[in-house]
Amino acid sequence: MTDREAQLEQEKIAALTALEEVVSTEALEAWRVAHLGKSSPVMQAFSDLGKLPAEERPLVGRAANAVKQALESAYAVKSEQLRQAELERVLASERIDVTLPGRAVQRGRLHPLNQTLREVCQIFRDMGFQIYRSPEVETDDFNFTYLNIPPYHPARDMWDTFYTDKDGVLLRTHTSPGQIHIMRERAPEHIRAILPGTTMRYEQLTARSEIEFIQVEVLVVGKGITFADMKGTLIDFAARAFGKDARTRLRPSYFPFTEPSAEMDVECFVCGGEGCNVCKGTGWLEILGCGMVHPTVLEYGGYDPQEFSGFAAGMGIDRSTLMRYRVDDIRHFRNNDIRFLEQF
Ligand code: DAH
Repeated sequence: MTDREAQLEQEKIAALTALEEVVSTEALEAWRVAHLGKSSPVMQAFSDLGKLPAEERPLVGRAANAVKQALESAYAVKSEQLRQAELERVLASERIDVTLPGRAVQRGRLHPLNQTLREVCQIFRDMGFQIYRSPEVETDDFNFTYLNIPPYHPARDMWDTFYTDKDGVLLRTHTSPGQIHIMRERAPEHIRAILPGTTMRYEQLTARSEIEFIQVEVLVVGKGITFADMKGTLIDFAARAFGKDARTRLRPSYFPFTEPSAEMDVECFVCGGEGCNVCKGTGWLEILGCGMVHPTVLEYGGYDPQEFSGFAAGMGIDRSTLMRYRVDDIRHFRNNDIRFLEQF
């Protein structure tokens, strides 16, 4: 055996021993560069062949080839071992226990205010009313002036209003301005519609009031509409909403946009009229304001009050939902606390 052959044999043993220590793909790559790369002893042996005496060349060449092949196949085996080990490690760490119980999907539900609102809308739909949406951001003309509340009129103080930076632009304090929008759109057709939506008032937050609440406006305009039509319609509504035996009463009241005006009470559905803390001992719950549309309002809406008449009503959804579910604080409705909302 020539010296060269002996050196190659030693290199083979050294390389294979070093390979046993390799446990990572990075280390394997370093090993490959060192033992099979361009300047590795084996490759060097190939390039040095020319310098050898002619009779040694085939011997050394053959030996170098054998070592190279041995190292290459050892490399392949190691590479596969590492790949397997990596796969097993990933499988073990990402193991899924399919016997664990699943996590139930939480089902959502309608917000209690929306439940009440939808019921009210459905009742009016059954009674032949259309549903009309109007803007939540209004001008003071629509919110007040066209509703017979001119600028600087003290009646504006009946609503604590959120004004905006923009002159004459405010957040509607009630759904009544929608009356003007629908009248201007429909005149001189007859109208039988409800106008539901969010309203805002700059009020101190207490257990009974919020700065945001939902109202449903009722509007009927036509020829020969009378107070009796209003009364009949509202009593019918109350019967459908609170049960056909629910007693109601109308009390005279004042609103600038109706004349005459009234408020409707329904017998307290908590105590049945006996008197309790929900109805504050009176046996009655106030549910809406109403009246015959004021001639000035009809005119602003584009109707001739000599020819047309109408009635209107406005009811709050929040307070009746509060009473309906005996919720003790109206602010719960908009706190978005799942523990509260899940109960409905
Ligand atoms: N807009 C009134 C309010 O928010 C409620 C109201 C009363 C509406 C009488 C009406 C009505 O349409 O006729 O206080």
